[in-house]
Amino acid sequence: TGLVTLDPGFVNTAACNSDITYIDGDAGILRYRGYPIEELAAKSNFIEVSYLLIYGELPTQQEYDEFSERIRRHTLLHEDLKQFFDGFPRDAHPMPVLSSAVSALSTFYQDSLNPFDKDQVELSTVRLLAKLPTIAAYAYKKSVGQPFLYPDNSLGLVENFLRMTFGFPAEPYEVDPTLARALDLLFILHADHEQNCSTSTVRMVGSSEANMFASVSAGINALFGPLHGGANSAVLEMLEGIKNNGGDVDAFVERVKNKEPGVRLMGFGHRVYKNYDPRAAIVKKTADEVLSKLGSNDPLLDIALRLEERALSDDYFVSRKLYPNVDFYTGLIYKAMGFPTKFFTVLFALGRLPGWIAHWREMIEDPARKISRPRQVYTGATERPYKPMDQR
Ligand code: CMC
Repeated sequence: TGLVTLDPGFVNTAACNSDITYIDGDAGILRYRGYPIEELAAKSNFIEVSYLLIYGELPTQQEYDEFSERIRRHTLLHEDLKQFFDGFPRDAHPMPVLSSAVSALSTFYQDSLNPFDKDQVELSTVRLLAKLPTIAAYAYKKSVGQPFLYPDNSLGLVENFLRMTFGFPAEPYEVDPTLARALDLLFILHADHEQNCSTSTVRMVGSSEANMFASVSAGINALFGPLHGGANSAVLEMLEGIKNNGGDVDAFVERVKNKEPGVRLMGFGHRVYKNYDPRAAIVKKTADEVLSKLGSNDPLLDIALRLEERALSDDYFVSRKLYPNVDFYTGLIYKAMGFPTKFFTVLFALGRLPGWIAHWREMIEDPARKISRPRQVYTGATERPYKPMDQR
């Protein structure tokens, strides 16, 4: 059936047209729907950015209010879905808990199964945006053995999430505005990144006309891996490892350069950015601000700064164009906010959700859409006769 081109990891193969996000990896440019990430980070908020990614334009005040209100109305989880959390071991990693709960939304909202019903697609959109923070907070509460908190819909999305995560039922919870603003900003920075592994997964699953919940659940599983969203946890584990070894940054860099199996400089390198990741520049500044405002004196920050400086002056990294990516400093911020290390990737998922939704919707409406079905180059055995068991 003709020639196929081998392209492992799709380094050079575009699978779709997209109007959502523009990246110029050499120039370090990232724009959502044409708006530079730096401007959105400084002036916008996560709900507005979600609207922009999903609907293509910045909302008017009325559109913004209606969108926020629709999300607010859907933050509760079905009581039966709450029971779901009890089935997992208490020390379960929260990422598979998250993807399982999102997958289960298809069972609670069976009206979501037709991907061409526009009203239902709208409903799935707000249900997901509203419920994922609640699911994430419940996963956290389960892991620490504390009672679940119902959403308080007088609060904004990020404030509500912080309260459901760190608050207690009978006590008022004061949301720290520095913390809420920093988390909102991090969500904006993570909100979309065109055809990354998890977003491509969402599109691929959706291309079979599976509904939004099934597709996003698959995306969460793709994000789990340490080369993708899992990198933010892996960076912190790396920094802790270096600290426990006496803080010797040089020795660690040598191990990376010697390509010891499984040893990479986590939080460095990117498939597309061959220059400083523009998100990393903003995150580094935020880390400085948040850590000093929260009065955190984390020795891991000093190790991270020394590690970055060391790598950026080393030919191994310079010649391969390896620069810090978005994950290099986020873990330090999440840690200062009080999140446990294995929860960091859940925060990435909360931020990436509007991007997944925007891509799923663009994919389903694309007249050029076809089911994803890559080809392969077969390298196995040629035809051979079956051997009975006693002759093997
Ligand atoms: N530490 C050490 N060497 C590296 C690293 C790293 N972090 N990243 C790439 N290299 C080397 C790699 O060994 C290879 O060298 P050589 O040519 O001698 O074999 C060269 O650089 C090219 O690497 P690659 O693996 O072919 O590049 P890729 O585009 O397939 O991988 C990446 C991109 C992000 C998976 C990779 O850079 C990596 O593993 N980084 C660490 C994990 C990480 O921080 N991931 C988060 C990415 S940003 C957030 C997200 O979107 O998830």
